[in-house]
Amino acid sequence: MAPKILVVGAGGREHALVRALNRSAAAPELLCAPGNPGIGDDARLLAVAVDDVAGMADAAQAQAVDLVVIGPEVPLVAGLADELTARGITVFGPSKAAARLEGSKQYAKEVMQAAAVPTAAWRAVDDVDGGLAAIDSYPVVLKFDGLAAGKGVVIATGEAQARAALEAFLEQRVFGPGRVVIEECLAGEELSLLALCDGERALPMAPAQDYKRIFDGDEGPNTGGMGSYSPVPGVGAQRVAEICALVHQPIVDELRKRGTPFHGVLYAGIMLTADGPKVLEYNVRFGDPETQAVLPRLRSDLYELLLAAARPGGLEGAHLEFGEDWAVTLVLASAGYPAAPSTGDVIVGLEEVGYGIEVTHAGTRRGDDGAIVTAGGRVLNVTALGATPASARDAAYAAAQQIDFEGRQLRSDIALRAVERTSE
Ligand code: AMP
Ligand code: GLY
Repeated sequence: MAPKILVVGAGGREHALVRALNRSAAAPELLCAPGNPGIGDDARLLAVAVDDVAGMADAAQAQAVDLVVIGPEVPLVAGLADELTARGITVFGPSKAAARLEGSKQYAKEVMQAAAVPTAAWRAVDDVDGGLAAIDSYPVVLKFDGLAAGKGVVIATGEAQARAALEAFLEQRVFGPGRVVIEECLAGEELSLLALCDGERALPMAPAQDYKRIFDGDEGPNTGGMGSYSPVPGVGAQRVAEICALVHQPIVDELRKRGTPFHGVLYAGIMLTADGPKVLEYNVRFGDPETQAVLPRLRSDLYELLLAAARPGGLEGAHLEFGEDWAVTLVLASAGYPAAPSTGDVIVGLEEVGYGIEVTHAGTRRGDDGAIVTAGGRVLNVTALGATPASARDAAYAAAQQIDFEGRQLRSDIALRAVERTSE
C-alpha cells in the first residue's frame, strides 16, 4: 500500500517538500497541515495550526500516517517530534532537546564550543550596560537568544545602535524574555549548507546561497529570504565534504554524546572568511528559500532518505545524488514587506507560467470569490532549472514577470553572482 506522509507547515519550503515527495517511487499519499491553496493542488490539506502540538499529533494519529515531516522551527522547538515519537509515529525532525540548537543562540554557541566548530567570538549578556561594556569594537552583531522569525539579529555600527538593540531585546522584550548574544562581526561570503542527519552521521545536500535583504545590492532590512540558487560556484563536492566534516558532523557527534541525537536536517549558515568557514547559525530544519532551489535538483528518493534519517544510523550507505543542472529561486513578496506586508491583493497570471517552472506558494489564500490573494510577506516562489546559471536565471525571471499583484516586490539581482562567476 502507498505510504501516507504528513508535511507540517504552510510555506514555500513545505510546498517544495510536498512536490519532491510526490516524485518518490513509493507514490505516497500526501497530506499537509495547514498548507495553503497552492499546496492544496498537490496534497490533501488538514486544518491544524502549525503550533498546535497536540492537535497535530492527533491528526497524524487519526490519519494513520507512516511519516510526519516537520517544516518550520516553531513546532520543533515546542516538542512536536517528541509527541509524535511518544505516540509511535515516525517523524523526520529533531526532538525538542536537539532543536535548542536553533531555539537558543547561546546553547548553539556552547555546543559549537564543546564540538570545536569554528564560529565568531561571543558573549552572552542579560543587561544593557553589561552588554555595552562587553563590546570592544564596531561593527558588532547582537542576537536575541530565542526564536525571532529572522528578526532577532542586528549588526550595530556604533554605540547608539547597539544600545537601541539591547534595549529592545532586554528591556522592551520585543521577542519575549531572553538574553542577548554579542558576536564578533565576520566578513566574507555566506553559504547555506544543509545536511540530512540520522543521529549518527551527517550527509550533506547541495550547497546554496540565499539573499536576505529586501533590496538589490543587499540593501535594506533583513527578510526571511528574497531568493536563492544552487549549486554554488567554487563550492564543489570535495569542498562540501570538508565543510560538512568541519561544521555538521562534530555537532551530530556532540549531540549524540549528550544523549539528544539529532535526526532531521541540520542547516548551517556559514561565513566563508579569510580564515576559513565559520558558522553564523544553525537551523534545525530545511531552509526557506534554499529548499525551493535544492530539492528540484535532487535525483535520489526524498521519501526513502527522510524515512532512513528517522532511524538511528539509518542513513548508512545512503547516497544523495543531485543533477548537473542549476536552480534559481525568486521570491515574489508583498507590498510593504518586511515591515508591514499588505494582504488580500489579488494575484494574476499564475496560469500563464510555462511548463518546467516550479511555482510554490508561500503566503497565499483563497479569497471569498475563489481568487488566489496574498496572505503574507513572502507570497510566491518561482524556481527554474537550467544547464547554466544564466539559463536558469533567465527562465526564472521570464516566468516571474508573468505573475503580478499590487505592489509586488522582486529583487532583480538574484543569482547574478553565480552567472558572473561561471562566465569568468
Ligand atoms: P543568523 O540568523 O544568526 O544567521 O543571522 C542573520 C544574518 O545576520 C546572517 O545571515 C548574516 O548575514 C548576519 N550575521 C549573523 N551573524 C553574523 C556575524 N557574526 N558576522 C557578520 N554577519 C552576521
Ligand atoms: N533562508 C534562511 C532560513 O531558512 O532561515
